[in-house]
Amino acid sequence: MVKVRFLGHAAFEIRGSKNILIDPFLTGNPSAAAKPEDFERVDLILVTHAHGDHIGDAVEIAKRTGAKIVAMYDIANYLVEDNRGITTIGMNYGPTEVDGVKIVQVPAWHSSSNGKYEIGTACGFIIELDGVKIYHAGDTFVFKDMELFAELYGIDIALLPIGGHFTMGPLEAAKAVEFLKPKYVIPMHYNTFPPIKKDPEEFKELVGDKSKVIILKPGEVFEL
Ligand code: NI
Ligand code: MN
Repeated sequence: MVKVRFLGHAAFEIRGSKNILIDPFLTGNPSAAAKPEDFERVDLILVTHAHGDHIGDAVEIAKRTGAKIVAMYDIANYLVEDNRGITTIGMNYGPTEVDGVKIVQVPAWHSSSNGKYEIGTACGFIIELDGVKIYHAGDTFVFKDMELFAELYGIDIALLPIGGHFTMGPLEAAKAVEFLKPKYVIPMHYNTFPPIKKDPEEFKELVGDKSKVIILKPGEVFEL
C-alpha cells in the first residue's frame, strides 16, 4: 500500500516502505498542508528543478532528517555547495535505484534557474515504490514523448500540472493523459497563486473516461 499525500502546489509526500517527498515547497506556499518540521522520517527528497517553488524546504528537511536529495546533477551540486553536510544524489535523465526505490529522471519542457541564472535543466520523475509507479511531471508543457513513459514503464498514478501560465493547462494536461495512459491522475500546480487559478473540474471533464481523475485538496491522501 502506497499513500500519496498532496501537500499543496507541486509538493507530495509518498509513503510506503520508504518515505519520499517531492518538491517540498511549504514555507511561503499559501496552499501548504504541512510545515517542514512536521516531517520526522524522510528517506528521499526529489527535486524536479531549481525554481524556489520546487526546491522549497528541501535543504532544511534534509538537514534535520538526513534525507538524501535526488536531483539533476547540476542542481545537486548547487544545493550542496552552500549546505555541506547534506547528502545529494546528482543524476541526469535516465534510470537509477536509490535505497531500493527505482527512479527514472525524465525530461520536462521548462526552465530551471535560481530565478535568474540557469541551474541544470528541469525534469520529471517516475518512481516505483512497492510496485506502484508514480510519475511526477514537474513543471512542463505536454510533449509527445510522454508516450514513451507509458511504453517503457507503465504509469499507475500521474501527477500533472494544470495551472497554465508556467506549465500545461487543463487542455494540454488532458492530452498528456492520452499519451501517459495512467490508471489515476492527480492534478497539481494550480490555485496557489492568481496566475495559475484553475478549476480542476474542467480538467476532469476534458479527461473524461481516459483515466480516473483524483482531485485532492491540500492535505488529502490517495492510497493505492
Ligand atoms: Ni518552475
Ligand atoms: Mn513551479
